[in-house]
Amino acid sequence: MTTHSRSIAVRQGQDPMTAATSKAQVSETELGLLNFYRASELHGGLVLAQIARRVRDGELALKLLRHSAEEIEHARLWTEAIVAVGGRVEPVRRTYQTMYAEALGCQIGLLDVLALTQIFERRVYRHFLEHLHRPGTHPVIAATLRRMIEEEKGHLSWVKAWLEDQAVRRGAVVRERMMRYAAVDRRIYDAVIVQLGWRSVA
Ligand SMILES: [Fe+2]
Ligand SMILES: [Fe+2]
Repeated sequence: MTTHSRSIAVRQGQDPMTAATSKAQVSETELGLLNFYRASELHGGLVLAQIARRVRDGELALKLLRHSAEEIEHARLWTEAIVAVGGRVEPVRRTYQTMYAEALGCQIGLLDVLALTQIFERRVYRHFLEHLHRPGTHPVIAATLRRMIEEEKGHLSWVKAWLEDQAVRRGAVVRERMMRYAAVDRRIYDAVIVQLGWRSVA
């Protein structure tokens, strides 16, 4: 902030340290959305890492840890994008994963986490495509979305293969979880898009 703009901010009764947010190149609603993406990527990465702590299968541990690391990298990329468009990083308590936990309780195992991960990432894939194709999406945000969409493909494919492998031995259980969690996800998504003002983001 220059001395000139600082004095304008003070004249207008704004706090000069926070007035910089008004210079953001995207709306406050979109910044709220980006902070939610950032927090949910980070939370997703942490959940996968927690699961990786408990598995004994080396191959599976590698996949979980790679996936976890990529989700945490996504959180870093969203942080970078928010800063690049002049926005402020805000901690978000209620992430997508918190809402899943509220709906399902905390006692969930590997199958539940990976079934939810598959459903969540299908949702994210479609949602990010929609965000990317909105008219007026800022070029920095568009580039970040493109990167996420690309990396999501790898996440979707390894988890799908793992679930199919599980379905060979316990098909009915896998199908039941997928259907139940898809219904939970639909409810959460409908609430989240209203809460974040998705339909009004320019
Ligand atoms: Fe991600
Ligand atoms: Fe992902």
